[in-house]
Amino acid sequence: MAIVDPVRSEVLPVGLPMPKDADLLDAGATRVRVRTVRDRFPFPIPNGWFPVALASELVPGQVIAVYYFATDLVVFRTEGGEARVLDAYCPHLGAHLAVGGTVRGEHLACPFHGWTFDGASGACVEIPYATSERIPSQARVRTYPVIERNGLVFAWHHLEGGDPFFEVPVVDEFEDPGWLTPRLIEFRVSTSCQEMAENNHDFAHFKFVHGTDEIPAGSELIEGTYKRTESPGLVRETFGLGLGIVRSPGFMSFLSTVTPIDEDNVHVRWTFTVKGERDGGDLDWLSIDPASGADDPVSAIARSFAEGVSQDIPIWENKVYRPRPVLTAQEKGILAHRRWSRQFYSGLDDA
Ligand code: FES
Ligand SMILES: [Fe+2]
Repeated sequence: MAIVDPVRSEVLPVGLPMPKDADLLDAGATRVRVRTVRDRFPFPIPNGWFPVALASELVPGQVIAVYYFATDLVVFRTEGGEARVLDAYCPHLGAHLAVGGTVRGEHLACPFHGWTFDGASGACVEIPYATSERIPSQARVRTYPVIERNGLVFAWHHLEGGDPFFEVPVVDEFEDPGWLTPRLIEFRVSTSCQEMAENNHDFAHFKFVHGTDEIPAGSELIEGTYKRTESPGLVRETFGLGLGIVRSPGFMSFLSTVTPIDEDNVHVRWTFTVKGERDGGDLDWLSIDPASGADDPVSAIARSFAEGVSQDIPIWENKVYRPRPVLTAQEKGILAHRRWSRQFYSGLDDA
């Protein structure tokens, strides 16, 4: 992604409200980056379910390389149809398992010397040229729990290898013929899952960044890993950091997922549907360019949300995180969000 030279201040956007530009979501877009501060966030990559691929891009026998959780990963689909996620590097001599790796049944064979790993457990099941039957127990690759849902392949990331402690919700509308075929947009932002979600609790910014007439009022309910926020016409349910469903009930639903790339960057995938008669055909999740001009109702909704987030992106990418912010009395929801978020991190002090 191109980044504007910090000394050319004449190209900085002028706000109140911020300019709308859906093209900013394109991978090739030029974005303003004048921040030089690094390591902004005093928390690690969170624990949770995060998409690492679209289900439709992974056919049986396919192996792809991805980089999420600040880790090189391999995603593959077994001949039996199961999606698997593992660390990329072979425990033998370190080959990247997606570069020439071959699916054999439920296993993945390393391209370098043919050692073969079980996709579910990560254990080496065969060393083709070994003279002894015994396979060393350290010959094992880390695997991640996987669930396929809503057209996405989710991996469970836990910094300490802990088990899943919440569920990925099903968006019933995506399979319902009374709702239009879902469409997906995706983009990257230099921010963190917590910071991006904090936006939903920052009601004042809707007026100043997005240009709403008033500062909207909202109510919030928190139950363990679950959170529900209601504002006029919009219900947002959150299931963990980076995983939420937003509904304008009876009209529009969208699934929002935010996958950490590293501590300072995320990959966002938004899947939208709108109430209406689905016109037959197979359900498929289309990647669409939000600025493509497609004029069906689902694309129109996707484009309006893309324009909305384009107003947030320059702010997010250039701000710092204030651990002890100065807030007004109405802004205490931001602190509640930060307290709620702590349950998704390993290794934080109990402050
Ligand atoms: S590096 Fe994978 S089998 Fe040797
Ligand atoms: Fe916003």
